[in-house]
Amino acid sequence: MKTAFEILKQANDEHFALGAFNCANIETLKAITQAAANLKAPVILEASDGEINYMGYEQMVSLKRIYEKQVGIPIILNLDHGKDFDSCKRAIEAGFDYVHLDGGKMEFEDNVAMATEVVKLAHEHGIPVEGEMDHIEGSSADHTTEDPKNLQNEKLFTDPDRAEEFVRRTGIDVFASFIGNLHGLYADQKHLKMDLLTKIKEKLPNTWLSLHGGSGTDSNDVVNAIKLGIVKVNVNSELRIAFKMTLQEVLNASDEIAVYKIMDKPIKEVQRVVEGKIKLFGTAGKAA
Ligand code: G3H
Ligand code: ZN
Repeated sequence: MKTAFEILKQANDEHFALGAFNCANIETLKAITQAAANLKAPVILEASDGEINYMGYEQMVSLKRIYEKQVGIPIILNLDHGKDFDSCKRAIEAGFDYVHLDGGKMEFEDNVAMATEVVKLAHEHGIPVEGEMDHIEGSSADHTTEDPKNLQNEKLFTDPDRAEEFVRRTGIDVFASFIGNLHGLYADQKHLKMDLLTKIKEKLPNTWLSLHGGSGTDSNDVVNAIKLGIVKVNVNSELRIAFKMTLQEVLNASDEIAVYKIMDKPIKEVQRVVEGKIKLFGTAGKAA
């Protein structure tokens, strides 16, 4: 099976983006892996600290390996928004394939120092590190009563020169920038600042770029961002909402108590959303 480095390189060379889908339980894991298998698409399966604390580090690694073997499609397991060195170390040593250190709320120099340490450890294990230096606003939740523009403060967006310095000094492999890409689903579609993304790519021609906040982002912007060099798009809120709303409908509509029967529809609905994203990101068939 290809490594995370090899798949990122493939995405960069062939101009597609890997969907990075958050997984919080066996049902979302099934939905994501089944979508990947149906469309022959490599995927990133990811879990934040909260999601991993629920699932368990070793459990996530074992499940990922079992499903990967079963579907025969590369599944990269990523620690999403790892909060510190210890959290990344725990994931790396448990067998994760990729880690994302979120230093967005840290002082720049502290972030550089921590990211450098994470890169050293991750590279000793042969896995890539994603770094972040500007806090990407919002949260992976339903914000549909809020206007996204209230959180898209351009003064807080990524400065390309600083991004270049951050990457040069830390040696991170993937850079997550803040270009209007909020976390969460809002009243309006989110739009990205494409000219800023272009400038960031010009400063970082040899660094892979990720896009957080994939839910509810204008599809044309996503496609154009991939053309400009985005190789990973994170999606969480749309999956959470699909799961919860469908589960609620099923529970309201029946007295069924067999859990595996109740979960069938939520799994299918999450899978439908994941398949739509995989097609949008141009990843279908890339594991063929
Ligand atoms: O790290 C996870 C994501 O950036 C998800 O963002 O909830 O807007 O899809 P989202
Ligand atoms: Zn994110």
